[in-house]
Amino acid sequence: MQTISPSKSYSLEDWRGGNRSLKQEFDYAIEDMDGEIPHELNGTLYRNGPGLLDIFGQPVAHPFDGDGMICAIAFSQGQAHFRNRFVRTEEYCAEQKAERMLYRGVFGTQKPGGWLANAFDLHKKNVANTNVIYWGDKLMALWEASHPHRIHPTTLETMGIATLDGVLHRGSPFAAHPLIDPGNEHREPRLVTFAIQPGPQTTITVYELNSDGTVVQQHDHNIPGFAFIHDFAITPNYCLFFQNPVTFNPIPYVVGLRGAAECITFHGDRPTKIWVIPRNESGSIQELQADPCFVFHHANAFEQDKTIIVDSVCYEDFPKVDHNLNYQETDFDTLHPGQLWRFHINLEAQTATRKQLVSRSCEFPFIHPALIGQRHQWVYLAAAHQTKGNAPQQALLKVHVDTGEQQVWSAAPKGFTGEPVFVPRPNSTQEDNGWVLDLVYDAAHNRTDIVILDGKDFSQGPIARLHLKHHIPYGLHGCFHAST
Ligand code: CO
Repeated sequence: MQTISPSKSYSLEDWRGGNRSLKQEFDYAIEDMDGEIPHELNGTLYRNGPGLLDIFGQPVAHPFDGDGMICAIAFSQGQAHFRNRFVRTEEYCAEQKAERMLYRGVFGTQKPGGWLANAFDLHKKNVANTNVIYWGDKLMALWEASHPHRIHPTTLETMGIATLDGVLHRGSPFAAHPLIDPGNEHREPRLVTFAIQPGPQTTITVYELNSDGTVVQQHDHNIPGFAFIHDFAITPNYCLFFQNPVTFNPIPYVVGLRGAAECITFHGDRPTKIWVIPRNESGSIQELQADPCFVFHHANAFEQDKTIIVDSVCYEDFPKVDHNLNYQETDFDTLHPGQLWRFHINLEAQTATRKQLVSRSCEFPFIHPALIGQRHQWVYLAAAHQTKGNAPQQALLKVHVDTGEQQVWSAAPKGFTGEPVFVPRPNSTQEDNGWVLDLVYDAAHNRTDIVILDGKDFSQGPIARLHLKHHIPYGLHGCFHAST
């Protein structure tokens, strides 16, 4: 018997259902649905995330160590088609062939055999599981600590390493959070991204790619100390990097006792450093200090008068990774919630201040893609059903950053949400005129639904719920590529 505490919107048993491997690869038309798919919604939703939570029965210590699996949901004239395929990394292929776990994971997964089997094995298994991005007519699966993989946009076959015409090499770090600067009448659209080479001092490399996918700008910047930088924000003139106040002690990792991410310590008494790097190579890097906090994801940044504004999801502490604690037993009440904050960065006064926009536990911010680097009003997020404290994501939240207006759609008690993807309605100029697409794990039916919400109005509930024939493990990031 499963019980739901009266104070909770979920049961841990239901939540765990989304943390199971999906080993099969599917390819089918989605026929089981409630509601109707809008006929103007044409294109493909690509999602990435861990597909395997175990390697032939040996569980990974953290979902972030699971092998990347791409899902593609193609919409055309009111119809939808589903396909999923694993990214054929070298390591995935080797483990599938050996039928056993061969590699350690960065998030604490240890090979069988104890510390001796893991000591001095510093090979990073590229799990290619964090994001999938479409740019320059190419699809790439991304994992920040190593090279990207090219994926066929239709068949999802792995087509080898993406080198960006020789700019990247095997093992080159490449962030999982590229941003598409939409450009304007004076500037062409660009893909702006970065790579982090950590060490006693950290090197940040900024890349800009033109619409053919060619690297047209690349510059390096060294900052003192270890840096855990997962995401960044851009404006037409600047790139912004938040250096969380953490340190890294590599010894337990090197001697095989712990995963690399377990060796990170958060220091609540040290400031978060904000590094402002001009996109024009000739400018110099600037450092500002803000309140201590931990940031994985930014919603957006823009310039206003002499200020740069950044909206980010902040935690009061780094969510501790410990492979001795079973993540399937996560006590959500004991973790700090992510909350949406607005930073005001004044380069003249050299100040960075922040104020809270949303106190409800939230993550995975998403905005209208044409407003990246420009002033936005609406942010879409995955959020907890409850308004206070911390809990798994079961709702989707739409927030007006100027008025504070909020709209919530909740899938509780049986549904669990992920990153919402906003798709603008073709030819519309209104910021929230479009659809929000989300993969929702439905514990009641042990399957995942593709949920389509009206971007203007969450109160009506989904326009359509497409029922897959199976579940998809909780994913990370993705994108929508409109068909032309
Ligand atoms: Co991310």
